[in-house]
Amino acid sequence: MLELVWPGKESTARDCVLPSDKTLKLWTPRARPEPPSSLQEPAEHRIMAGDNLDALKLLRDAGERYDVIYIDPPYNTGSALTYKDKSAFSGANASAQWLNEIYPRMILARDVLAETGVLFVSIDDNEACHLLTIMREIFGQENHLGTIKWRRKRKPSFLDKHLSATLEYILVFARNAAVCPRLLGAQTEESTRPVLNASNKDVERRIPEGMSALCPEGEYAPGVYTNRSLGFRLLDPLVVRQGAVEKGARVVGPFRIQQELWAQTGFITRYFGLRRRVLASEQKRRHAEDNGTHWPTNEDAQAELKAVFDGERVFDFPKPVGLLQELLAMVPRESPQPPQRCLDFYAGSGSFLIAALEQSRRDSIARRVDLVQSREVVRGQVAHQFDDIAEICAYRVITDSRRRGFEPSFAFSELAQ
Ligand SMILES: C[S@@+](CC[C@H](N)C(=O)[O-])C[C@H]1O[C@@H](n2cnc3c(N)ncnc32)[C@H](O)[C@@H]1O
Repeated sequence: MLELVWPGKESTARDCVLPSDKTLKLWTPRARPEPPSSLQEPAEHRIMAGDNLDALKLLRDAGERYDVIYIDPPYNTGSALTYKDKSAFSGANASAQWLNEIYPRMILARDVLAETGVLFVSIDDNEACHLLTIMREIFGQENHLGTIKWRRKRKPSFLDKHLSATLEYILVFARNAAVCPRLLGAQTEESTRPVLNASNKDVERRIPEGMSALCPEGEYAPGVYTNRSLGFRLLDPLVVRQGAVEKGARVVGPFRIQQELWAQTGFITRYFGLRRRVLASEQKRRHAEDNGTHWPTNEDAQAELKAVFDGERVFDFPKPVGLLQELLAMVPRESPQPPQRCLDFYAGSGSFLIAALEQSRRDSIARRVDLVQSREVVRGQVAHQFDDIAEICAYRVITDSRRRGFEPSFAFSELAQ
């Protein structure tokens, strides 16, 4: 097996086995109007403020297991971020320092991932090769399900000297690929289907009153009608008024479906052909693909945040809600089942929780989300409003969920000695 070695690797790995010396205490972020009376108050979603190393240890030791984990760790880019910048990881050893932060957290991520669970990790070119190598070491190469390419900005930057970077990656890992369900892509776009098939035997069906009819109004005489080289014979006069069949008729043709399904889903097309709608239960999902180059971008994410923070730029690289919804939509859930447990332990502005709410509205899968965000001090303009990024995160999830018409319950806690 290939192994990446760097100074400090062994001691960070040893440390993450130890339990945390922190506990979770009630936290009342500024954005929360009425504090809850206790941490035990039941809530759908939990936001934890503090270092994710401790949070992960506590979650592991409490036996928490997640179906979906998404993380977007700092990329070690050396750019001026609202959060950890090059002063945190600097000099010749920047990659080793970065790996010492990431490595134990990835070991813990595996520990809290359910046996059938999936982990998505955002990364750019700077550390992608190191990250992939350590992840394959921790999870096993056979559990690397693939790498999604995401287009983070529409236009290339002319400031990049040699190659303008427009793509990022999302590494996708299973805890155990052998039992992990197949990841699903978008719904098939097929919404209608033909009902005649030339090689079938002719059978009689009835076009019932009230069936939808897109053809011109009028009376259609008995006789043979051909559409797209498929013919059928109308046995009785058929009357169409205001987009529906007013007087039903018998029809003979090479039907491929039974009368019941035909009556339930059939319709007459614009050019007097016969077709039917596809039932929701028949809709198939494609295989998930590793191409995310058409998904929402960082620019979209900035616009989403500005809508919540009165036009202010409070955070440098938030992920767009739509991108995270695409990832959540990939992980299937047979209903009825307990809610899907989701975790983001580099929460930033809390986009992942908002994406889970939006995705649940779309696919009716219940989700419970845990977020962890450190109390990293913010600089610049936003500092007069928020002390740290955990406060930004709390404000965003409270305000944005309400703005979008959700009424979730939250439990806020902080890691304390
Ligand atoms: C790239 S940002 C995540 C952005 C997020 N996906 C969003 O859409 O807003 C990384 C976040 O992880 C936080 N972070 C870095 N190290 C951390 C740690 N040890 N524990 C908890 N949070 C940490 C940073 O403060 C920053 O907010």
